[in-house]
Amino acid sequence: MNWDTVYTNASQWVKEAGERIRASFQETLTIRTKSNPNDLVTDIDQEIEQFFISKIRGQYPEHKILGEEGYGDEFEQLDGIVWMIDPIDGTMNFIHQQRNFAISIGVYENGVGQMGIIYDVVHDELYHAIRGNGAYFNDKRILPLKERNVKESIIALNATWVMENHRINHELLIPLARAARGTRSYGSAALEIVYVATGRVDAYISLRLSPWDFAAGAILVEELGGVITNLRGERLDYLSKDSFFAARPGLHQEILTDYLKNGKW
Ligand code: IPD
Ligand code: CA
Ligand code: CA
Repeated sequence: MNWDTVYTNASQWVKEAGERIRASFQETLTIRTKSNPNDLVTDIDQEIEQFFISKIRGQYPEHKILGEEGYGDEFEQLDGIVWMIDPIDGTMNFIHQQRNFAISIGVYENGVGQMGIIYDVVHDELYHAIRGNGAYFNDKRILPLKERNVKESIIALNATWVMENHRINHELLIPLARAARGTRSYGSAALEIVYVATGRVDAYISLRLSPWDFAAGAILVEELGGVITNLRGERLDYLSKDSFFAARPGLHQEILTDYLKNGKW
């Protein structure tokens, strides 16, 4: 597969989708809820996923597609070439703020990430990586990630995980939040992971993400020498929901050993 051509096609589709999303700011959205009253989806999320699926099927009929809104294929294993698509990551921000959301597309071959794109629609900023060829912010190469310790780090972390919640003992992450130089929460996993890649934050932690949330960002972070695992320090399997932990090299190990080892994540 010529991944440069895949990137050229995908980046054109992403820009086209971005124009459609920006135009939708003038329209009244149809908003529905999914698993709970705060899990939102709009007609635009669905339309954009269908747009990508028709482009991919037209150009690459033999490829498979895993899409958040369910218009793609069903999977039991990740063989062949699979496009993992989140048409709008940060739908709550899209609805409430008209900013701080992104399109996220990761393309995997037999489970190995080959090309990732994250497009910040409102800022018209495109991040991408092709495995082995570096990562880029617009057309500027992103520098490899250097080591940094917890005390000098900003950690992206949702407040949910340090308040009482039904998933984890919330007290476990408090020492980490306290030790860090600062914490941030942007409400779009794809953007938060790409902020790890660009060094705007040093780590990102979530207790629950789906493959389409992190498929693209993981390719960028790993291309720059960062580390991606679940909170147990294990490799992610890209077919199921899991906890998620992206960080600079060195910092990843420090956080795992000093702050996460006693948790049942
Ligand atoms: C959500 C966002 C959010 C994260 C959630 C995701 P969506 O994606 O990335 O930041 O905390 O876990 O589900 O639903 O807006 O595509
Ligand atoms: Ca998402
Ligand atoms: Ca989404």
